[in-house]
This record gives sequence, C-alpha cells and structure tokens, in this order.
Amino acid sequence: MAVADLYTKINLQYSSKLSYVSTRLSYSRRVSLRPLPQPHNSRICCSVTSKEAQAPVFVNTEDPKKKPDCYGVFCLTYDLTAEEETKTWKKLINIAVSGAAGMISNHLLFKLASGEVFGPDQPIALKLLGSERSLQALEGVAMELEDSLFPLLREVSIGIDSYEVFQDADWALLIGAKPRGPGMERADLLDINGQIFAEQGKALNAVASQNVKVIVVGNPCNTNALICLKNAPNIPAKNFHALTRLDENRAKCQLALKAGVFYDKVSNVTIWGNHSTTQVPDFLNAKINGIPVKEVIKDTKWLEEEFTEMVQKRGGVLIKKWGRSSAASTSVSIVDAIRSLVTPTPEGDWFSSGVYTAGNPYGIEEGIVFSMPCRSKGDGDYELVKDVIFDDFLRSRIKKTEAELLAEKRCVAHLTGEGIAVCDLPGDTMLPGEM
Ligand code: LMR
Repeated sequence: MAVADLYTKINLQYSSKLSYVSTRLSYSRRVSLRPLPQPHNSRICCSVTSKEAQAPVFVNTEDPKKKPDCYGVFCLTYDLTAEEETKTWKKLINIAVSGAAGMISNHLLFKLASGEVFGPDQPIALKLLGSERSLQALEGVAMELEDSLFPLLREVSIGIDSYEVFQDADWALLIGAKPRGPGMERADLLDINGQIFAEQGKALNAVASQNVKVIVVGNPCNTNALICLKNAPNIPAKNFHALTRLDENRAKCQLALKAGVFYDKVSNVTIWGNHSTTQVPDFLNAKINGIPVKEVIKDTKWLEEEFTEMVQKRGGVLIKKWGRSSAASTSVSIVDAIRSLVTPTPEGDWFSSGVYTAGNPYGIEEGIVFSMPCRSKGDGDYELVKDVIFDDFLRSRIKKTEAELLAEKRCVAHLTGEGIAVCDLPGDTMLPGEM
C-alpha cells in the first residue's frame, strides 16, 4: 500500500487529532516526541489529521536496541475527546496480559480488542507481557492487532518487565506459565511457576491499579493465584481469581449431552475446588430447564462416576487429540469469566470461580483459593452464593480437593511468606492436562 494511502486509511479509521506522540526508550523512560523533520535513518510511524499538523510523524529509530514498548500505530496518542464516538464511550481501561505471545492469548487478544468482552462502548489499552525469547513473536501479535483496525483498541504496548507492563492495569490476565516438563516433579512445577507468580504479585502490588482484577490461568492456577495475592498485600485478596470457568463449561456441555438438550438450558453449575483431577463438578445443585439435574438425569452412577471423571480429565483427553493443551476454549472461558464479573448474573443463576476462601459460608478451610459459586452485580466484584445444598457425596469430594489445595499451599509456603515449605502432595494429584 502506498504511504499516502496508508495515511488516508489511518486517518479515516481514527479521524483523530494528534496532540503528541508518546513512546518509551529502553523500556523505562517515557518521553514525548514532537513531529520531527524527516531525519536520516528514521521510520514512518503514522500520520495525523489535524488543522495544525498535516505532515507525517517520524520516530527516530537510530539505535535498534532502543525499542519503544508501544507498538507501531499504537504509539500515537489520540485525543479521545475529539472523537464523535467518545460521547458514548467509557473511560479507557488498561488490560495486562502475560504469556501474550502464546496460543491462548492469540485467541483472547482479538476478542478483547473487538469489544465482545467489555462491550462496544469500552475503549481498551492492551499491555502485553512476554519473555525475552518471545519478544519477536510478541511484535508479530502487535502487528496483527494493528492490521485488524479495531476502533476500540487505543493502545498496545509490549514488554518483558512486569513492573513496566502492569503499570496502572485495571485487569491482569495471567496466562503465562511453564508447562510441566518430562521428569519434573509436581513440587518442582509449583516452585518454578510459583516464583513467576510471586514476582508478578509484587509487580501488581507496586504498579497496578489498587482495584485491579486478576485472573490466573497459568497452572496450577489455584495455588499460583494464592501466591500472587499473598505477594500483593495492597490489593484486596477478593480481586484474585483462578480460572475454573472452562471446567464449568465442560460440565454444562456433558450434562446437556446426556439430557439431550441444548447447553443453554443448563444452569447453576458449580465447580468446587482445584483446577485439577480432584475438582468437583456439582450435579446436586445444577439445573436443567430450571429443574434439578438429578430429577432429569436419573442415572446417579453416571453422574457420580462417568460425568465427574469426564469433566476432571477433559483437558488431558484433549491434549492427546491436539498434541497441546486447549487454547481456543480456554480463551472463550476467560471471556466468560470476565463477562460474569462485568455484567449482572442472571436471576437465580451463578458462575464458578477460584476465589479466596476467607469468610466462605461452606466450611471450607480459610486461606486457599478454591472454586466456589459466585454472583456479581456487574461491577467487577462478586459475592458467594449462600443457598446451595450438600450431600455426603459432594462433601466427601470437596474434602478431597480441599486436602489437595492445603498440601499445595504447604508446598509453596516459602513463596507466600508462611515459613518453610513442606511438600507432601497426594500421590494422585494432577492437572487435567497431565493425564
Ligand atoms: C485444561 O484444563 O485444558 C488445561 O488446564 C490443561 C493443562 O494442564 O494445561
């Protein structure tokens, strides 16, 4: 495309006024660059539509090591108030995503940018965290975001320092984690990933919005979320979630299949406990067409055995088919998890999320991150659902997943500031993907 055409296209897309171009050098110092006369060895960043400035803007890129952390067209700072749409647009929110060059993020980022998560009136800034190894891939992601011309996507920045990337984050979607390698003990995995989440917790504590909402996806997500929140004492523990929404979605799908109904007829499904093979998909409180599942599906043996195990091990079965863990459905479930917090929960229903157990009404041990039934008014916050029932089967299964999480907690005590770690993990404890 000719440069002049590119200007026209960008101008049409944004029809905005450039006040200044802001970028960062060496990932640390924010400086303002004014439109420069074209220097030797510069690259065209973008043009502007403005009565004052009609000339293209040039960003000096003489030192290739001094990369701006904002990306390409997103290095332009637009005057949002000059735009027609902003009459109905909300204030820009910052969304930080770790593991941003990975498969899950590759699905998720485009959903976030399209407006399907936070709504068509919510402009967003994406702050993408990668590793030194993935930095080039991260630039590829940013290029694809540029080329998608999403009107609501106002800023994209990329970086490898969580203290930089998490600056002013309103949401932190922590996806990046190391997978368990061959011969690696589960305790080693807890330690390696735990250190990442301890560091990210400290960074969030230092630089993010003090009301940031954090969704931990990287496994083992419950204990990673616990480590993260323990390292972020200035952020309410209630703001941290471990993603168990994919498990809820999987459970709904299997119940719908068995009952011969479409899955939108299934409600009130709770996943209790850990995102592992001890998780408890609750068929006692779940409903199909508003009727208790046990009245619709009379095959209790199927519910207790096949259904429960199918949900617990779905991730592992999927890995065998794909050769890698679920990415698309995980990203869909992250979208569901966020939407459940930013839109009011339908009357009488609830959703599952791994949240801090302090003050829970179910008698679950305090001080762990445990998946439980939640409701939200749509303000980003939630409350635990009180009117749930228990029977012996449900109680005994909840005890097992609780014991596993308590063992994981003892194993990461060195990362939560609770003393010396003792790893006595139950022998059969596994992530869904480890089957
Ligand atoms: C899943 O549930 O699909 C994943 O958490 C599996 C995994 O271990 O990555």
